[in-house]
Amino acid sequence: MTGELSPIDKAKFVAAKRAADFVEDGMRVGLGTGSTAAWLVRCLGEMVRDEGLKIKGVPTSTRTAELARDVGIDVISLDEARWLDLTIDGADEFDGDLNLIKGGGGALLQEKIVATASDQMVVIADIGKEVETLGNFPLPVEVIPFGWQTTQALIEETLISMDVLGRSATLRMNGDTPFITDEGNHILDLHLNRIGNARQLALVINQMPGVVENGLFIDICDTVVIGYGDGRVELR
Ligand code: 5RP
Repeated sequence: MTGELSPIDKAKFVAAKRAADFVEDGMRVGLGTGSTAAWLVRCLGEMVRDEGLKIKGVPTSTRTAELARDVGIDVISLDEARWLDLTIDGADEFDGDLNLIKGGGGALLQEKIVATASDQMVVIADIGKEVETLGNFPLPVEVIPFGWQTTQALIEETLISMDVLGRSATLRMNGDTPFITDEGNHILDLHLNRIGNARQLALVINQMPGVVENGLFIDICDTVVIGYGDGRVELR
């Protein structure tokens, strides 16, 4: 499954493989989105095929759903599952309190809904994702297409009034056209540099009309499995 991996891919793979140990027979498992989560899905597929592991998987994007089906995982919707034992997902940044920035892959809305419906969220990440303070990675905010420029202006004004360091919000593009999420929305990436009060910012952003959800995951993650390029793994 792995062949010759670059150090970064090895770090993602070993984190995913270790996190697969959290999965037990009969569990309903939220399946994250992104390159690290894709390793997890492949690992679980192998366990289903070779070890007879029986799980139901709830994917957080159409991409993950496709991969999960391809590797033989029994895929169900969140409404069929209702609640989940565990979600395993990647992250763009995590800090010492296990708060996260997610949404680099544009799946933050489904990812947050699925993680919140889970008894436990395990994040898998290479060591490069660890930060002292969140915010160097642009914060993704999912907004509805109607009036998105007005929403963008409102967000920028609010950032100024909150005295946040970086204040620009850019529309995520997919080539020449706006990126469209699985829910048919746009993504604004907020270039903040440093988020002093992530909890407050998450609440303020989500109160704005036009905003669907933001990529700050506060008090949602229980464990981070960190992978290193030399194959070491560490749990936080
Ligand atoms: C997708 C996400 C991903 O988990 C995050 O972007 C990390 O991706 P990768 O594992 O490819 O580095 O939040 O919306």
